[in-house]
Amino acid sequence: MERELTLEFARVTEAAALAAARWMGLGDKNAADDAAVSAMRAVFDTVHIDGVVVIGEGEMDEAPMLYIGERVGVGVEPKVDVAVDPLEGTNLVAKGMPGAMAVVAVAERGCLLHAPDMYMDKIAVGPKAAGKINLDAPVEENLRAVACALDKSVPDLTVVILDRPRHAKLIESVRRAGARIQLITDGDVSPAVATAFEDSGVDMMLGIGGAPEGVLAAAALKALGGELQGRLVPANEEEEERARNMGLSDPRKLLTIDDLVKTDDVIFTATGITTGSLLKGVRFTANGAVTHTVVLRGQTGTMRFIEARHRFDKKPSWRELCREAK
Ligand code: FBP
Repeated sequence: MERELTLEFARVTEAAALAAARWMGLGDKNAADDAAVSAMRAVFDTVHIDGVVVIGEGEMDEAPMLYIGERVGVGVEPKVDVAVDPLEGTNLVAKGMPGAMAVVAVAERGCLLHAPDMYMDKIAVGPKAAGKINLDAPVEENLRAVACALDKSVPDLTVVILDRPRHAKLIESVRRAGARIQLITDGDVSPAVATAFEDSGVDMMLGIGGAPEGVLAAAALKALGGELQGRLVPANEEEEERARNMGLSDPRKLLTIDDLVKTDDVIFTATGITTGSLLKGVRFTANGAVTHTVVLRGQTGTMRFIEARHRFDKKPSWRELCREAK
């Protein structure tokens, strides 16, 4: 994919973040999500791609926009798979808590796993610990391997885990091994990606979260040389069937990062909505807003952070995208 597309996708996540940010702390996660989806969809219409949404807002009959199978972009080459999460962390925005982002990952057609909307067990690490982890190994073993790869001891590690009852045993095991834990209420994409940035202070992300979020995080880690392994956790026979229909003959197979993202030519962009471990949140100014976006290009391994100052007096359509929340 052409380098120029990276800026186009950054504009897509900027628009979604600006729209969602208006709803920060207002207690209405659905309105925040709707605003992000409409803004993202509108800007996608200007991007020179022939895109198909493979991870989006749900099936066609569940979502009016950015549903799985929807075509996005102007409709010209390159043909690409598009994975979106216009608002990753709906509760975080509704409550004004840290770590919400707007996220897009794009790769050549057929290269992103069409992950069904169900849970996935995940382990994510940055480049130094890539190749050293195994989702099937005891957690103590993974902690030791990651500590060794990072030239640290286990008590120096910070592991991010979603604070859920289903993680009680996992949390207990990590505590017993002596590593530090950061429990989060929502949003496991940001900490998974943060493992690849030493300054973030996050060394590992562990536990069960959304499968679509697993593919998005894997796209970023692929671009950065990190690693994510996952395994779907179908809740019942119906979910197993859904996984099979999406092309996974064995729904419980261990998924490597190459199963999740089959190419290095991937572009990932995320714009902060509320400030988190990776990105600053949207700040509204006298006549516009400031956004903070990370842009990753797998083909070259370039990572960019873009601080953009948007002037609504010069871009009235963007003022419209993030009009006052009602
Ligand atoms: P939403 O943005 O859809 O609200 O979900 C965010 C999220 O926290 C993900 O980051 C995570 O993978 C998943 O939900 C966890 O699901 P659950 O809240 O059911 O444990």
